[in-house]
Order: sequence, then structure tokens, then C-alpha cells
Amino acid sequence: MTQYQVTLIAGDSIGPRAADATRALIAATGVNIAWDVVPCGELSLAAGGEALPQALYDSVRRTGVALKGQFRTAIGSGKESPNVALRKALDLFAAVRPLKTMPGAASRYDKVDFTVVREATEDVYAGIEHKIAPGIIQGIKVTTRRACERIVRHAFAVARREGRTKLTLLHKANIMKKADGLFLSVGKEIAAEFPDIAFDAMIADNACMQLVRKPEQFQVLVAQNLFGDLMSDLGAGLVGGIAHVHGVLEGDGAVKVFEAIHGLDVASEGTDGACPLPFFRAGSALLRHLGEGAAADRIDGAIARTLGDGLRAKGAAGTLTTAAFTEAVVARLG
Ligand code: IPM
Ligand code: MG
Repeated sequence: MTQYQVTLIAGDSIGPRAADATRALIAATGVNIAWDVVPCGELSLAAGGEALPQALYDSVRRTGVALKGQFRTAIGSGKESPNVALRKALDLFAAVRPLKTMPGAASRYDKVDFTVVREATEDVYAGIEHKIAPGIIQGIKVTTRRACERIVRHAFAVARREGRTKLTLLHKANIMKKADGLFLSVGKEIAAEFPDIAFDAMIADNACMQLVRKPEQFQVLVAQNLFGDLMSDLGAGLVGGIAHVHGVLEGDGAVKVFEAIHGLDVASEGTDGACPLPFFRAGSALLRHLGEGAAADRIDGAIARTLGDGLRAKGAAGTLTTAAFTEAVVARLG
């Protein structure tokens, strides 16, 4: 039987607990993964190490694939978020977020199915801010032609691999005439290379309204970092919340990182009731990537049946411990 090598980047908060539950669930499907667990984040800091140690980069480059939770980013700490630093260091320039109605996920909408492809290395996330006088801060938005070209090309590639027929680019070029103007004009240029995919551009605030009114008009959205972040969560809200979506960090193809978007649950920290569902979703997507689609389908089905039976972890307003919720899903693998 194939044994896969996968790096585990559990993240902070409920990450380590939820990651353990996910390993147990995946093991119960029979898929054999040798997890390379690298101490990182707050655990590593507490032991005198770094949040993102070299061993983590070495492991991800060796295995080529990781399951990741979220690192905590203290507001006002002045430090760059390890989530952002990791993307930049591994040049994982695309945060791909499939936003699809999942069986079992309760939502006001049904049949939502689009993918956000978000540029993940620059824009206002470049982290360049200055105090230019008392009470006056200047934050810099960085937009480079190179990053625009590669993210738009990547979005077209995602559209092709998902069998989509349309790509929509989001911008605010009416206000940020130079930065978003560049993104928009590069988008139009690159679109000529992909005649099989229809291309249109939409102003980002209008796109928010359109998305809530008629989500079915969108197939793939491409955006710079900040708008992509907002659109990803807006989309998550249409499919039942961030517990039901996962993200994939992608670069030139050598490494892919499957992220549980919702890895921080402060209220559940130190309790036995953390909800592991966001990690289960990322784990299922990881299995699909490994070519274990049947096991992924079994996990998705088991989650749907578990939620359908009204079972929830305490951290998700239910009554079950993390272990009991995980057992309930395992028992429904079918
Ligand atoms: C995400 C998160 C991160 C981001 C935070 C935790 C740094 O919101 O992955 O969408 O803003 O990129
Ligand atoms: Mg976000």
C-alpha cells in the first residue's frame, strides 16, 4: 500500500488538537500517511525556537505537501503574521479557496460553487507601513507586474483544471488607478492567452453585492491579496461558514499547503470540546490531492451524516468533546 509523506503544521490555538483528530479520521479511512510533525508556532516559541523553524521549510520542501492550521497573529504586536511569512518564504503566491456548498453545511444559499484565487505575497500585505508624523501612518500597497501576471495565469490554470468557462477579475481601478490599473490591464493581456475561458472584470464592491445577490454568476474570481481575503470569507459565509471551507496555498507546483481556514478558536482553547471540522475539510481536500478521492468522499459523506444527525462538538455550539465528535464521524464513514 502506498505510504504518503505529509508535513503537519498544526498552527496555534485548537490546531494541535484538531490536527490529531484529523490524523485519526484519515487513518480510519485506511489511507496510510507518515506525518512529519514539525513543532512550530507558539509551541516552538515557548521552547525557545522560532515560529517558523528551518526544519519546517525543509520538511515541506521534502514532502511537497502539508496540512496546516492557523497561526495566531496578535493585533498590535508589530510582528508579521507567521501565516503571511510562510506564504512569502515558500513563494506560495496563490491562495486558492474553493467555495462550494457541502453536504451537511447549513446555509441560506444552496448550490454555491465558485473558487477564489487570491494573490498571497504582496498588496497591502507587503507589510510596509511608516509613521510619517505623530498620528499619521502611511501604509503601502505593492503591486508588481510579475505578481499580477503569475496570479492571473494561475487563476486561468485553476479555471481550466476545474472545467470552468469564466474568470472574473476584481479590482478598484477607479480609485487605485495605478496599482489596480496595472492588475486590470495585465489581466486583460493574459486573458488573450486563454481564449477558451471567458474573462470579465468587476469593481470589487459591486462584486460583493453581486455575490450575495446571485452567487451562481461566478465561477472563478481572481483578486489581489486584500480583496481576495475579503472575498474568501464572504464566499465562506455563503456556504455555511469558515468551518466548511479549506484553502490551498500553491506556487510553482513543487509545494501545496492545505489550510484549515478556521484554526483559531480562543474560547475552546484548553477545553476538550474544540471542533475539528475545519481540519477535516482540509484533510479531505488533501486526500483528493493525493489521489485518494474515494476516501475523501467517505469523509465528506460521514461529516454530512454526522451533522445531519444533529451532532456537533462543544466548540460548535454542540455537546460533544473533540474525541466524541471524531468518533461519531469515524462511525459514519460507511
Ligand atoms: C486567511 C487569514 C489570514 C490572512 C490571517 C490569519 C493572516 O485571514 O488566511 O484568510 O489574512 O491572510
Ligand atoms: Mg482571511
